[in-house]
Amino acid sequence: VCHCGINIAGVVDVAGVAEYARTLPGVAHAENLMFACSTDNQDTIQQAVKEHHLNRVIVASCSPRTHEPLFQENLQQVGLNKYLFEMANIRDQCSWVHADDPEAATAKSKDLVRMSVSRAQLLKPLEQFPVPVKQSGLVIGGGVSGMTAALSLAEQGFPVALVERGENLGGMANRLGYTLEGFDVQALVSDLKAKLEAHDKVRVFTDAVVKKISGVIGNFTTDLLVAGQAPARVEHGAIIVATGAREYTPTEYAYPDSADVVTQLELHEKLAAGDAAGTDLVVMIQCVGCRTEEHPYCSRICCSQAVGNALKIKELNPAAEVVVLYRDVRTYGTKEIYYKRAREAGVRFIRFEPEAEPKVSVEGEKIRVEVLDQGLHLPLVFESTKVVLSAAVRPQEDARAVASQLKLPLDADGFFMEAHLKLRPLDFASAGYFLAGLAHGPKPIEESVAQAKGAAARAATLLAKKEMMVGGEVAVVDRRNCAVCLTCVRACPFGVPRIEGSVAKIDPAGCRGCGVCAGACPGKAIQVAHHTDEQIMHKAAALFDEPTPGDDYEPRVMAFICTYCTYTAADMAGSMRLQYPANVRVVKLLCTGRVDTKHLLAAFEAGADTVMVSGCELGDCHFLDGNYRAVKRVAETKRILEEAGVEPERIEMFHVGASDAPGWADAVREMVRRAKDLGPSPLRKREAGDEAEAATA
Ligand code: FES
Repeated sequence: VCHCGINIAGVVDVAGVAEYARTLPGVAHAENLMFACSTDNQDTIQQAVKEHHLNRVIVASCSPRTHEPLFQENLQQVGLNKYLFEMANIRDQCSWVHADDPEAATAKSKDLVRMSVSRAQLLKPLEQFPVPVKQSGLVIGGGVSGMTAALSLAEQGFPVALVERGENLGGMANRLGYTLEGFDVQALVSDLKAKLEAHDKVRVFTDAVVKKISGVIGNFTTDLLVAGQAPARVEHGAIIVATGAREYTPTEYAYPDSADVVTQLELHEKLAAGDAAGTDLVVMIQCVGCRTEEHPYCSRICCSQAVGNALKIKELNPAAEVVVLYRDVRTYGTKEIYYKRAREAGVRFIRFEPEAEPKVSVEGEKIRVEVLDQGLHLPLVFESTKVVLSAAVRPQEDARAVASQLKLPLDADGFFMEAHLKLRPLDFASAGYFLAGLAHGPKPIEESVAQAKGAAARAATLLAKKEMMVGGEVAVVDRRNCAVCLTCVRACPFGVPRIEGSVAKIDPAGCRGCGVCAGACPGKAIQVAHHTDEQIMHKAAALFDEPTPGDDYEPRVMAFICTYCTYTAADMAGSMRLQYPANVRVVKLLCTGRVDTKHLLAAFEAGADTVMVSGCELGDCHFLDGNYRAVKRVAETKRILEEAGVEPERIEMFHVGASDAPGWADAVREMVRRAKDLGPSPLRKREAGDEAEAATA
């Protein structure tokens, strides 16, 4: 039991928790350490394992998200299988978030230790085994990001195939002359093309599309359709998706009715060629097609693009008047300096409210722009020679089809979604897939280049190995119970299960361990190793092994939450020292798609007054649709509760994103409030000893 300096011990009675742990069944040794993760204390843990012949180890300290691998590695060094380890998070979920109630924080810490001890008793050593890795890469998309990633891989010595659907490499960058900072984009594109053409490890396929990808991380086979040529086949171990994005084609502000209403990109192309004709009075309108209800995101590059074009106009045509109608200027980072320069050069910035958008009308040769100046509270009218629209960056038209072909998730805006915003920003949740560039979301060219190099580096960490270890926390089929109903084949977000002979087979190299198949399997023939039904339910049941002290009703809330989003949010609530009721106890799952109706009912049977399931925002699940399945299972549990005469509002589904720490605290408050309003669960009363009622039930 870790003090974590004063982080835990400043609130929780750490020695008391260790003393309590010694009383738990199966515990051979318990001690409290100042910093369990320090080198000295890692040695202490190893010594304890040897001295007491321990075959399970539980560390009660900080978040498993950050420290589990360290402790597992330590145990491996002393000969214990790493899956015989369990953590109780008594810092982020106790001392930091219940600092104002040390007694409750200590009681909760004891509960969390008890549940970990309980689960640890069912842990099994798991095997991982090596499979060979095809040490070459596939990059889909031949824009600057794709070219950069492909060249980076080739220069690290890995053969790479670069697939571009257009006739030429370059993508969106082919339309750009220079960046805001004056960097020559065409020189970059030419340089990349020349280096790729000259590199003996690079095969470039233009006019080509992916027909089919099969296989799993380290061992993919991709069939390509190449215009005018025979189909090609590529063997590779990793895939980088860099399929780019497109400029929104506006349907507002008289575009495309007038040749003098253009987009920033169209204007940029002319200015880059030295043509500033018709720029005597230019009115630019920002946020066209984004930051709306339907497309709420910011396109991030348009403000810089507008400032860049405005400065270029001033350079080519110093007498020109340039007016930028904006909602917020977001020339973020060091680009801010160019905004300042534009103001110094006489470019006028006029703010408008989203509810009072500018009006554009074409009258013969003239274009009339009306806007309500938010600062002056006065309408302004411009008789403009040119109107320039800062059109949004939109996902490619076929992004959804490509995502479905590759079985990769898109975010709510339709861009490809990384595995984790902060922890795995260059990876997809699907193993062996990485992403870069505009396909991931709007960003300036230098960020795309940096991201492409990062994605190549991530892919290289995989390709550098001759073989990789697979297995461990993966789905396993019990062939005796498999009815070959194909549910797992349909449910798996990544298409891993196959029917072979008369049984479902799940390739451990492809399985991500999300548990969606296990939750869906009607015959319960599938279990996820390390997260079996038995382990989950045992842990949940142990939360309420101990009677609540005192006669007063103290609500008990059980939460099943996903590692990727809500657990991260709960950790963040700790870092932010948000305070919320100490009544909640958490069971961590990789994805809420693992939740089964029987886990939820078991939580009630174990004595929970309310139960919550919380995962990523809808559309943001790192396993595509795991949280949609959880929504259905919560709805099903509500129905069962209702039929049993129990209030269905005792269970609820929440969607709490990784950065939404207040959302997590609010969700807990809500379920504690419901538990208080509804009183003890009727199922809990039965559990407390109403034998007759239990028998009737
Ligand atoms: Fe969070 Fe699926 S990963 S709900």
